[in-house]
Amino acid sequence: MSHFPHRRLRRLRRSSALRTLFRETRLSPSDLIQPIFVVENEAAAVPVASMPCVSRYALAELPRRIDQIRAAGVRSVLLFGIPSTKDALASAARAMDSVVPRAIETCRRSADDLVIITDVCVCSYTDHGHCGMIANGAVENDTTLPVLAEMAVAHARAGADIIAPSAMMDGQVAAIRTALDTAGFAETAILAYSAKFASSFYGPFREAADSTPGFGDRRAYQMDPANAREAVAEARMDAEEGADALMVKPALPYLDRIAEIKRELPDWPLAAYQVSGEYAMIAAAAARGWLNERATALESLTAIKRAGADLIITYYADRVAGWLAE
Ligand code: PBG
Repeated sequence: MSHFPHRRLRRLRRSSALRTLFRETRLSPSDLIQPIFVVENEAAAVPVASMPCVSRYALAELPRRIDQIRAAGVRSVLLFGIPSTKDALASAARAMDSVVPRAIETCRRSADDLVIITDVCVCSYTDHGHCGMIANGAVENDTTLPVLAEMAVAHARAGADIIAPSAMMDGQVAAIRTALDTAGFAETAILAYSAKFASSFYGPFREAADSTPGFGDRRAYQMDPANAREAVAEARMDAEEGADALMVKPALPYLDRIAEIKRELPDWPLAAYQVSGEYAMIAAAAARGWLNERATALESLTAIKRAGADLIITYYADRVAGWLAE
């Protein structure tokens, strides 16, 4: 009798070809969504200081950026608009001549098969920087719903394929679904930011999107990072309200939520958002020579898929697609 077990797991690790053959999880450019910041009142791209290699683009530069992303092999984008005017009612969020509808039309003209997803939230459009309408010093849920619905319809009218509501208002998916159907956009899909945690990892995004709250924080509407069961409840409610796909955000610190939501709601496509702070941590350590950026980014994204994400929104999308092609 052998002193060793019959099964030796190292047998299948002996060469790169064996490891590739037996790999359980594969990243593919077709799973990746590239976020893009579009600024209405700038003439040229401006780098985001806390996100190396990420810029805010002017409308005129979008076609060139879309060409780059497509050339890398990524076919889906998530648009964030930074409008030239902000007010208490987020008026620019609902106007057809505002930054995101114009960006959608520009993207569509440069690539008719591009999947165009738009973030639907008012924090970049309100003068106070919160994700909803303010009443008595607090973000009011029900008066925010029609604003989000109008914003979604404007994006659908401009040609968005998928609306991604991220305001974390209760009932936002149902309100948007009803408004889209009523306006004749039954084919426009909804990717719900279902389990969106009140996270410190959004810091660099708020610099990029100019959406830092002017007072307080977002804990009265985004989820408590300590809550596990509630994330499943959020996902289930979005599914019941008519979401076509669900999302967990941030990604790496919440792999347990990705895995459980995938188990509990296996019929729904699940996305995960590797957010700005996750990106910035890797990029900053890499800039100091403390981490290998490419290997760390690929390992993080593989872990997110392994946990159960079908799709990943990541600022690394086009670069990862390039690395995978090598
Ligand atoms: C809008 C929104 C935020 C992010 C995506 N949509 C910021 C926030 O909730 O404060 C964060 C994305 C990132 O950090 O990359 N509400």
